[in-house]
Amino acid sequence: MKHGTQTNDGVEGCAGCAASDVVDIGRRSFFGALIGMGSMLIGAIVGTPLFRFVLYPVYAKGESGSWSDVGSVHEFDKNDGPVSKTITFTQRDGWREVVSTESVYVCRTGDGQLQVLSAICPHLGCSVAWQASQGKFVCPCHGGQFKPDGRHIAGPPPRSMDPLKAQVKDGKLQVQFEYFQTNQPHQELLS
Ligand code: FES
Repeated sequence: MKHGTQTNDGVEGCAGCAASDVVDIGRRSFFGALIGMGSMLIGAIVGTPLFRFVLYPVYAKGESGSWSDVGSVHEFDKNDGPVSKTITFTQRDGWREVVSTESVYVCRTGDGQLQVLSAICPHLGCSVAWQASQGKFVCPCHGGQFKPDGRHIAGPPPRSMDPLKAQVKDGKLQVQFEYFQTNQPHQELLS
């Protein structure tokens, strides 16, 4: 006895097994979706730390700088001109940490506050020198001149010497050293 049925397009179906076919297809789709979701979850668990590792230098570069000791605040009690200091600081270059040293000057603002200036000339990056006999900073490269508080007086530099972020902590003067774009009228961080 024949159980098959004839459809309009001539395809013969099986009336007795149609329901079980639907259940089988539904079960297969369910397990397929479950495997797919499991694979996605495992991918996310494995991939997230890898993704973070790859992007770490980008995040690390965005961190604010570290504080470097300049010296005891009492070293700068005497107000008889800028004091030259060498500081050490750590920078991140990709996954590498680079320890650098730079020169800074500790001087006083017009209202007597301590301030720290970068010794890098804002014209083309030479090292500015304090000339005590002349009472001003002079850059040896193109003759840029600055007042004892770093303000531009003469020569090609397009702005004054760069002030750095400073703080006093536990009796010590500290600074956050940064590099800035040269030959620009405004202080802009070097990216
Ligand atoms: S680099 Fe200092 S004046 Fe040019």
